[in-house]
Amino acid sequence: MLLHRAVIPHLRQACRLKSAPSRLYIRACSTDDSLQPQCPSLAFSGDNSSTGGWKVMGTLLGLGAVLAYHDHRCRATQESPHIYTREEVRSHSSPETRIWVTLGCEVFDVTEFVDLHPGGPSKLMLAAGGPLEPFWALYAVHNQPHVREMLAQYKIGELSPEDKAPSTLKTSDPYIDDPVRHPALKVNSQRPFNAEPPPELLTENYITPNPIFFTRNHLPVPNLDPETYRLHVVGPPGGQSLCLSLDDLYKFPKHEITVTLQCAGNRRSEMTQFKEVRGLEWNIGAISTARWAGARLCDVLAKAGHQLCETEAHVCFEGLDSDPTGTAYGASIPLARAMDPEAEVLLAYEMNGQPLPRDHGFPVRVVVPGVVGARHVKWLGKVSVEPEESYSHWQRRDYKGFSPSVDWDTVDFDSAPSIQELPVQSAITEPKDGETVQSGEVTIKGYAWSGGGRAVVRVDVSLDGGLTWHVAELDGEEQRPRKAWAWRLWQLQAPVPAGRKELNIVCKAVDDSYNVQPDTVAPIWNLRGVLSNAWHHVHVHVAP
Ligand code: MTE
Repeated sequence: MLLHRAVIPHLRQACRLKSAPSRLYIRACSTDDSLQPQCPSLAFSGDNSSTGGWKVMGTLLGLGAVLAYHDHRCRATQESPHIYTREEVRSHSSPETRIWVTLGCEVFDVTEFVDLHPGGPSKLMLAAGGPLEPFWALYAVHNQPHVREMLAQYKIGELSPEDKAPSTLKTSDPYIDDPVRHPALKVNSQRPFNAEPPPELLTENYITPNPIFFTRNHLPVPNLDPETYRLHVVGPPGGQSLCLSLDDLYKFPKHEITVTLQCAGNRRSEMTQFKEVRGLEWNIGAISTARWAGARLCDVLAKAGHQLCETEAHVCFEGLDSDPTGTAYGASIPLARAMDPEAEVLLAYEMNGQPLPRDHGFPVRVVVPGVVGARHVKWLGKVSVEPEESYSHWQRRDYKGFSPSVDWDTVDFDSAPSIQELPVQSAITEPKDGETVQSGEVTIKGYAWSGGGRAVVRVDVSLDGGLTWHVAELDGEEQRPRKAWAWRLWQLQAPVPAGRKELNIVCKAVDDSYNVQPDTVAPIWNLRGVLSNAWHHVHVHVAP
């Protein structure tokens, strides 16, 4: 019955589907319509060709068989677990044979989940026909109750007793060589390492000390030898490519600038509080500021013979950190920004007067002032100019913003531009949420920043949740017009209104385009929890 009720409306909808490109998701084992994919969730691609109707019919005919198969699987799992050998699991490693994986002694058919995998289908396919453990060791973000719960819905049986012994696959820790980190960092994930400085340290210094600069890694940190390090800069068609050692890079004029880096996921935890999102739970510290020095990208590109062209082009960067298939971290920025000397894009080899620390890209990283952290590619191995954006997962399938109404069943990553310049942002670093402040006067501190070189011109602070406002004092370096690459720290000393037992402290920044932060999360919520820049709130008690 349940099956019938869940499927029939979708079948009717499928029959109506003749034209617009669409994806049809049919849920066979649950009527629950939450964000999590249900077991088994079948994904089909519609098309807009004249044969679309026939395809839908074919799909529907095939659907019956698939549903029967899944119904059988679901019931089989509920009754007594079906037993499989590792050999059998191995033979299910493609969409044609269906895609099975194991975790511990359990066997899962994840065929229908592959397209929904947040890290991209190719990443999940790496484990097809085998154990998930070696990949979960690499992407430890999977080791969470909600991921296990989701996987449980795809369980089809268990491994035979002879095969229950741990997999013989090499699971040596790919993170074993990661650097030692500062104990003050608040760790959001250990493998890969992702951590932020605590709020009270974040604005202690205008320039964030290297050991507590926030770290956002997607993969293990490569251990690169500065002697043998080479940066490959692909030349234009018919031109010569460059293969630059560190000494070669030092020969370019050295350029030094103060730049704030912010991850697109900064303050994601506030979006999660409103409604669940997928991603690391960053607080307000996925942002830091450093003095970066290195060669200007425009000088290096010019040396390789590149010029600005009429047609749109992109500069693609590849890191030397890679996953087990050898796929490297990658990202791109428009050629126009890269070639503009005023944009000051750097191939940086120094951070606060020191060689880059390993976590921050030793020996060379890209620094793109005013642009989201994801494009500041670390451990830079290759630079090329391409007619299209980088094909990297992190350029095309992540770090994009969507309407609050888009969920994982409806998201079309190709429909949204990749995030480049970030919106105006500010947050309160002192006092802390839940703290007790003295009556009389309260000191409030925080940071404010805007993308694209737009300067922060004002920070408004309220003690009563936004009914009345004070203007905070801006500290930090004066900013050059259109090149305000770094944050402003700010503070306010304000009298605590007599008789108040609690304060709802709020801040919002205004940049020189008069962009201002939105007041609440709801209208900017998005499924990846990026671009979280609503007014920041801190609730404190007032000492009697
Ligand atoms: N570059 C490589 N090669 N690998 C990565 O995982 N992470 C990116 C970017 N560059 C990343 C990378 C992201 S998402 C961010 S926010 C910044 O690096 C973080 O830089 P940081 O760790 O120095 O703060």
